[in-house]
Amino acid sequence: MTPFTYRSGALHVEEVPIARIAAEVGTPVYCYSAAALRRQWRLFADAFADMPVTICYSLKANSNLSVIKIFAELGAGVDVVSEGELRRALKVGVPPSRIVFSGVGKTRAEMRHALEAGILQFNVESEPELEALNAEAAALGVLAPVALRINPGIDAKTHAKIATGKAEAKFGIPWERAEAVYAQASALAHIRPVGLDIHIGSQLTDLSPFAAAFQRIVELARKLRTAGYEVPRLDLGGGLGISYRDEVPPELMAYAEIVRRSTSDLGCEIVLEPGRALVGNAGILVSEVLYVKTGATKTFVIVDAAMNDLIRPSFYEAYHGVMPVAAADGAAPPTRVDFVGPVCETGDVLASDRLTPPLAAGDLVAFLSAGAYGAVMASTYNTRPLVPEVLVDGARFAVIRRRPSYDELLAIESLPDWLGGPGG
Ligand code: LLP
Repeated sequence: MTPFTYRSGALHVEEVPIARIAAEVGTPVYCYSAAALRRQWRLFADAFADMPVTICYSLKANSNLSVIKIFAELGAGVDVVSEGELRRALKVGVPPSRIVFSGVGKTRAEMRHALEAGILQFNVESEPELEALNAEAAALGVLAPVALRINPGIDAKTHAKIATGKAEAKFGIPWERAEAVYAQASALAHIRPVGLDIHIGSQLTDLSPFAAAFQRIVELARKLRTAGYEVPRLDLGGGLGISYRDEVPPELMAYAEIVRRSTSDLGCEIVLEPGRALVGNAGILVSEVLYVKTGATKTFVIVDAAMNDLIRPSFYEAYHGVMPVAAADGAAPPTRVDFVGPVCETGDVLASDRLTPPLAAGDLVAFLSAGAYGAVMASTYNTRPLVPEVLVDGARFAVIRRRPSYDELLAIESLPDWLGGPGG
């Protein structure tokens, strides 16, 4: 069920016409459906209702405060990877007892901040990180709860840039050293080992790599228990894919069943870190057509959104569907076009080789499945103001991140005195 539907020929987000949002907020603009966010959360939570699972929404997919707040109200925990994300979660009231801190390069300052907050767990990825965390916890006189992230050496069969579980990836502690590092962690005075963690990649559309990875981690947990360690918790990461085009992502129930089957006889707590699966199909990027240009071999629809607003097509060759905001009347045949942005790079293509009803300057289009890794990966490249975000909830909508002014954009830069700056 999608919240993006035509009503009387006009594309809506829930009950709000997109044209109204574009008129009031301007374009480009991200729009999210609160109903879709809540629905995905409930589906996910329901699939795991009979298991001791803490679902920690992976903020990196979409860290807008309102999005976090919606999930927090439904009882979500979060997975953060920086002090910035931690601050976001705390700001909207996510209890520290439901926050896990992932990432291969936590700074000492980030560790201190999270220790002071009293989070559920640090996912530690190397021996030197373990030592640093131990030192910071000692300085504060606290115990740091740690799950060791293990690299299971498994190919997630996804895009190379988002596969994290292969042996050559920077992530996790090599499988072969896992037991030794768990012993090391247990021996450190200010570390409290609470279990193991894996995350093998993102946008997985096949369950078998999950099954293989879960089996490996469970095997390791058993070995550690035989050696006398408690291992009360397993964090199985995120990675469940969504449908962008014609992919058929695994059913949530099937995914849940694999988790259940892999872990049931261990009797441990489970943490999950879904990102994309909760938000990906709850958002779109709305853009206005600036020009339709006939090239030598192609027709280009030049829109006002660009790779700096939605980088996934340029960076991962990702596919995002495109819908005209005014429904086609069927009078003219569709044409084949590339949707491109104004940024000065050949790679600034948002959607290539698409059949679309005729479009003209001033028309609006929606790039679909843009709720995950869209706005969060936006930049100001070409000095384009950061793209705003709007949340729709039924018949109401609100700007949940406004478009910065040019003055704000330039305000954080300054000239040194020798170039005429204020000190000179
Ligand atoms: N946990 C960890 C440790 C992660 O590294 C990630 C994603 C997740 C959870 C959430 O994964 P998800 O459920 O969203 O697949 N920018 C890329 C995706 C990068 C994913 C990075 N890690 C994209 O646009 O496809």
